[in-house]
Amino acid sequence: MKKSDLIDLSWDEFDELRDPRPAGNDFDAVVDRAISRRGFLGGVLAFGSGAVAMGAGVFGSATSARAQAAGFAFTPIDIATDFDIHVPEGYAWKPLVRWGDALWSEAEGAFSPETGVSVEMSDKVFGENTDGMELFEVDGKQLIAVNSEYVNPKINLPADSEGMPKNADEVVLLKNLQGVTVMEVADTGEGYAVVVDSPYNRRITHETQMTMDGPVAGSDLVKTNADPEGMSPKGTMNNCGSGRTLWGTYLTCEENFNGYFGATGEFTLTEGFERYGIGGEGRYAYEKFDERYDLSKEPMEPNRHGWITEIDPANPDSTPVKHSALGRFKHENAAMTQATDGRVVVYMGDDERGEFIYRYVSNGVWTEGGSTDGLLSDGTLYVAKFNDDMTGEWLALKPETTGMELAELLVHARMAGSKVGATTMDRPEWIAVNPLKSEAYCALTNNSKRGSEGMPVNAANPRETNDYGQIVRWRPEGEDHGAETFAWDLYVMAGNPAVYDNAYGGSDNVTPGNMFNSPDGMAFDTQGMLWIQTDGDDSNEGDFAGQGNNQMLVGNTETGDIARFLTAPNGAEVTGLCWSADKKVAFVGIQHPGGSWPDGDGIPRSSVISVWREDGQAIG
Ligand code: FEO
Ligand code: CA
Ligand code: CA
Ligand code: CA
Repeated sequence: MKKSDLIDLSWDEFDELRDPRPAGNDFDAVVDRAISRRGFLGGVLAFGSGAVAMGAGVFGSATSARAQAAGFAFTPIDIATDFDIHVPEGYAWKPLVRWGDALWSEAEGAFSPETGVSVEMSDKVFGENTDGMELFEVDGKQLIAVNSEYVNPKINLPADSEGMPKNADEVVLLKNLQGVTVMEVADTGEGYAVVVDSPYNRRITHETQMTMDGPVAGSDLVKTNADPEGMSPKGTMNNCGSGRTLWGTYLTCEENFNGYFGATGEFTLTEGFERYGIGGEGRYAYEKFDERYDLSKEPMEPNRHGWITEIDPANPDSTPVKHSALGRFKHENAAMTQATDGRVVVYMGDDERGEFIYRYVSNGVWTEGGSTDGLLSDGTLYVAKFNDDMTGEWLALKPETTGMELAELLVHARMAGSKVGATTMDRPEWIAVNPLKSEAYCALTNNSKRGSEGMPVNAANPRETNDYGQIVRWRPEGEDHGAETFAWDLYVMAGNPAVYDNAYGGSDNVTPGNMFNSPDGMAFDTQGMLWIQTDGDDSNEGDFAGQGNNQMLVGNTETGDIARFLTAPNGAEVTGLCWSADKKVAFVGIQHPGGSWPDGDGIPRSSVISVWREDGQAIG
């Protein structure tokens, strides 16, 4: 494969090429291959609410009255196939910040639609491909911490590079346009804008100095020539989803880190490299210009990535911390809550076909204003087993349960999870914890290989060749997120009821009027409504006919109703959602748009937009 071919792949297609896959799992129950729609709905009935509680076709023809009956404040919108944003009547939107926009005045005007941003200005602007984000109130200011997941080299590098850097400067340019941005935002009276030159503004890139804590810090598995102590990794990469701690810091989640490494010479393709899709050539040729990314020179460097990293947005001089106790995998997001006894609980998904859902539980407890020492470095990592009888359990990953040393089982959490019999899932994306009820939701985006390759069909992942995805939810025993067991069901199975009248038609809360595929981003608002963002097939053809562009929907988790709120420009996924302090504005991430959205000057720009109600009421 030519270099220029490699860079044309999506991250998901790149994974297909590397083909990391779970070990065959004896514990993974094989259920009836002919999926029973009745069986699925039986599961929903176990919870007494959700999909089965409503008749099909509630939003087959959406009306305001029906939407209000379901608790929605808006009239659901139709699909779109154009290169624009659409929101319900009575709502409006505008861009907040675009790839290449200045965070400091010296970079104003730095972006050109023809040449992008210069290397000199590349760490002074908002990065590309916006993803997870959270808003923090600090000293009366509003700060957004937001990820830039990856970069499109074809539009950032000179045309003659064909999407691969030709020198070290071009590598620096790409590194700087990814990572994390902390930016102050303010309502100017004409909508929200970034506060250029705010002392809180900060860029964190693939080169930013970090520290590591927890059991892996100082282990041989993370020692490199540049850091023989194994305590000071540099950079956070492929920052996908987000999380926030109870104490007001940002959690950035390192996902497809594997793609940044390659080898210029001999290296050993270990079991760990294979399971994590590491090897061969990197997507951006970093290894040619920077030894840190060269597996033949620094074989332990990939072990320093794939972690949950904590950033204090209130202190621009703070050093980010990689929390090894939370395990290393392709982190989607991190949903923090508390056990009844005050211990900190973090739910996390590993976005790969057949990988697992994890939970971390601290040993110490958190109280408002109390110490946070050790809360993310001293605890136990668990992995989820979803039984076919709609119960589930958290399996502890410990030396006693895995036969692996503690540092080893955290670095290779996937292998540890296989050893204890975790359930292979259909690509766990975001997890959201209901603020009003003891339950958590995980978007399982899709899995083209379910039913093969060590991923037999199971009750929580019930469809072979699952191109539509589903959302699983669990309720912990005793309403305690620290409990060892839970009950689960499927909140929704996405599908296309206009094409299929079997399980691929989706659950009963999916109708021709609200259908979608590939749920990904999720967040609860303060009212207990579940906002669902999609990252799927937007061809509007074949199995996806009638589903249009990627979208953001709102789910009522009590009734099961789901209504479409926003449609993205064709080509884009919707990812990342947070709200202004007064909840009157929702900030929504639009990643990899097509056409020339939003400026119409020939080049599409990944952007965060503001969305608000024209009557000034809160939107979440
Ligand atoms: Fe970066 Fe799994 O999405
Ligand atoms: Ca995602
Ligand atoms: Ca994506
Ligand atoms: Ca996705």
